[in-house]
Amino acid sequence: MIHLSSDTGDLFEQAFAYAQKQVRKLIEKHPNVYPLSTENGKWIADSPAWTHWGDGFLPGMMWMFAKHSEPDSVERTYWTEQAIKYTTPLEPRKGDRDVHDLGFLFFSSYYRWWRLTGDPAHREIIIEAGKTLATRFKEKGGYLRSFVGDNSIFIDIMMNVGLIFVAARETGDRRLREIAMRHSHTTRRVLVRGDGSTAQEGIFDTDTGEFLKQTTHQGYRGDSCWSRGLAWALYGFTTCYEYSRDPHFLHTAEACADFYITHAPADGVAPWDFNAPMESRMLPDTSAAAICASGLLRLCRLTPDPLKGHLYWSTAVHILRSLCEKHLTKNDPKWEGILRGGVYHVNQGLGVDESVMWGEYYFCEALERVLWN
Ligand code: GLY
Repeated sequence: MIHLSSDTGDLFEQAFAYAQKQVRKLIEKHPNVYPLSTENGKWIADSPAWTHWGDGFLPGMMWMFAKHSEPDSVERTYWTEQAIKYTTPLEPRKGDRDVHDLGFLFFSSYYRWWRLTGDPAHREIIIEAGKTLATRFKEKGGYLRSFVGDNSIFIDIMMNVGLIFVAARETGDRRLREIAMRHSHTTRRVLVRGDGSTAQEGIFDTDTGEFLKQTTHQGYRGDSCWSRGLAWALYGFTTCYEYSRDPHFLHTAEACADFYITHAPADGVAPWDFNAPMESRMLPDTSAAAICASGLLRLCRLTPDPLKGHLYWSTAVHILRSLCEKHLTKNDPKWEGILRGGVYHVNQGLGVDESVMWGEYYFCEALERVLWN
């Protein structure tokens, strides 16, 4: 693998340090709150959140900051204490049957903690969360249902199904592995198109299990490619290949990566939807770009083709450079997030051109991967 030039390395290290500064300011201003997006650059911290799918991302960044602080330093102690403080309240979510988001919640928080300590209690929490997620499986149709209803599958669930693979690996439970495999194969068949683009949602006939149509909530249209969904697919199928070693999933991750690379603008930062009308296509989603960069940094190590590996690594570096040079909030001292230009929900007018917590998390994770992995 080629190495970062020293100016790029410096740029990324400064961005990682800036992220710590912004997160520290947030938790000092709003202790024990898990905001998901900003409004005019200020974290929405005083009104109830629409959903709690992203509560793991704030502690997830703290685990990264702790890991990459000097051993025995004041910073290491500070970030470890904060990470524990923000991770522990998430434990009851391991039994949450109402959402499909347990991978988002636990990979970022308890999984990082477990990897650091090897504590069997953390392993048990991960296993239980994976088992809970598996209860969403619909035998007819062969998929994990989304929070919307029994007939609905979401592309986002590819970011969560990895938790079932981990639970299967840790327990040796073949049924769990079968559920994870079947859901991933179904998603590949019904939500990923021949050109590598993706749909956000699919609808099934629950009586027969027949797949009926592709739809969307956060994208432009059912037949368009919502860029964050594509990024979830790229990253999620990469994880799925890592755990299963089924080459179909590698091909799917590569197809999604190739679609992103060939359709993104020159700076590598995707529009919120690749098929939105021209005027709205000017609106980028920096969170999709950050997720994609982090996914590519994993995929580049798994692909057996060295040319592709090089392309994925250098695209990730290019995206991160663009995010650091054009979208960091450093020039606006009143802005509370790290990255501007994230998009939550265009159709609801929620978190549009703002900071979004998952964008911050995957940006930091991508920096972590490129700097220290
Ligand atoms: N709920 C996942 C997303 O907004 O991408």
